[in-house]
Amino acid sequence: MPQPHFLLLTFPAQGHINPSLQFAKHLIRVGVRVTFITTVSAGRRMTKVPAAQGLSFSPFSDGYDDGMKPSDDTDLYLSEIRRRGKEAVSEIIITSEDEGKPVTCIVYSLLLPWATEVAREHHIPSAVLWIQPATVFDIYYFYFNGYESAMKDQADKSNSKCSIKLPGLPPLATRDLPSFFNGPNIYHSILSLFQEQMEVLAEEPNAKILVNTFDALEPEALKAIDKFKMIGIGPLIPFDNSLRTDLFQCVSNDYLQWLHSKPKSSVVYVSFGSLAVLAKQQVEEISRALIANGRPFLWVVRNQKYGLEEETEEDKLSCREELEQLGRIVPWCSQVEVLSHPSLGCFVSHCGWNSTLESLVAGVPVVAFPQWTDQGTNAKLIEDVWKTGVRVSADEDGMVERGEIVRCLDLVMGDGEKGKEVRTNVEKWKESAREAALEGGSLDMNLKAFVDDVVQGCN
Ligand code: UDX
Repeated sequence: MPQPHFLLLTFPAQGHINPSLQFAKHLIRVGVRVTFITTVSAGRRMTKVPAAQGLSFSPFSDGYDDGMKPSDDTDLYLSEIRRRGKEAVSEIIITSEDEGKPVTCIVYSLLLPWATEVAREHHIPSAVLWIQPATVFDIYYFYFNGYESAMKDQADKSNSKCSIKLPGLPPLATRDLPSFFNGPNIYHSILSLFQEQMEVLAEEPNAKILVNTFDALEPEALKAIDKFKMIGIGPLIPFDNSLRTDLFQCVSNDYLQWLHSKPKSSVVYVSFGSLAVLAKQQVEEISRALIANGRPFLWVVRNQKYGLEEETEEDKLSCREELEQLGRIVPWCSQVEVLSHPSLGCFVSHCGWNSTLESLVAGVPVVAFPQWTDQGTNAKLIEDVWKTGVRVSADEDGMVERGEIVRCLDLVMGDGEKGKEVRTNVEKWKESAREAALEGGSLDMNLKAFVDDVVQGCN
């Protein structure tokens, strides 16, 4: 029997590439050969190409090899990546067959539902790698299956006390719902990809949804939809720092030396991930809050334009010198390493799902500062379900003022009841996440069962 060969097709963004690479690592560990497919533009940005036996890279051109520009049209981009991606994946399947390495399965990350069409054309099974929580998968599923008008009504309500109850999920207020339900036009094209995703899964007799979560973290959400089998194959985190790549550059890692010089649990780490774009006024409020708070901080402020940004985040800083008397500002860092540093006391986070899981694995309390997409839902889970952090409140214009940020920092880092509760809970979840990732843990068991299922189905 030939070695199982999986294609791993990944949307060209840091938040997709990171869990996909970790998933590749686990597949290789259980004897699968992996061809990792993403775009030429992402490939060019990777600061180092991860190497492992059994792993190869096949980048394809999406027509935007030099990256997207602010003037570029998102709908056109999404249609180009679809058209060119389908051709490229099809060619890789044919070539692999010719080379005696027939493809066993296609696993594709979020926003690429068209991969299922290629898989069907070649009579190969496929599975989606859902890089957001199971809870968010459920919300999209319910939106497209009976709850659309109730959720649209909810999304239009500014009264955060009202909430909607969906099967198996906690009550969700407007700010807890994914932002695409009431956003500007650009969101409609993405929402339609989620709809297509739900439709293609519904057509599959034995649809496989691989979720970057673990059984103990979202037990109800993983079972909330009778129709689908959702498989928790997370946390997909580079515990040992292997198979990492960065789409952003950081010329020096001397921030680690700086962290070494700080007392235990004293440093505030601030990062809004790879995509979030803050208003200049918001950057000012965060700057003033960090100065007023007085604790040392490490703040990631990107200095490269990426995708649709018109200016860099660094261009928005008005008081860099003053800030640097207290903390460090870096354009990018090795986040997993930073979060596991003993000096870390708190993570001011946009609550991207990778950052959320990384903070759980490292046992770091969170000040949840969500921006868009799934982040409001993730913040809800952090604050109300796992109780591993507190969430900032924005004013009517969506601005989070400096006093509010300082209040939340004091809550999670201070000696009050809330701080103690949060610190106890992060320890509990750290343990639970690590157990899930051990040999024989839920990640390992679920991954092996998935691979066996696919391989047996192909024989
Ligand atoms: C995107 C979406 O915005 C997010 O909501 C979704 O859940 C996943 O896809 P992104 O905004 O980049 O992701 O956030 P996140 O999911 O947190 O991923 C960022 C990744 O970049 C993390 O793995 C983090 O460790 C890494 N990172 C971030 C660094 O390595 N260094 C940094 O300085 C900042």
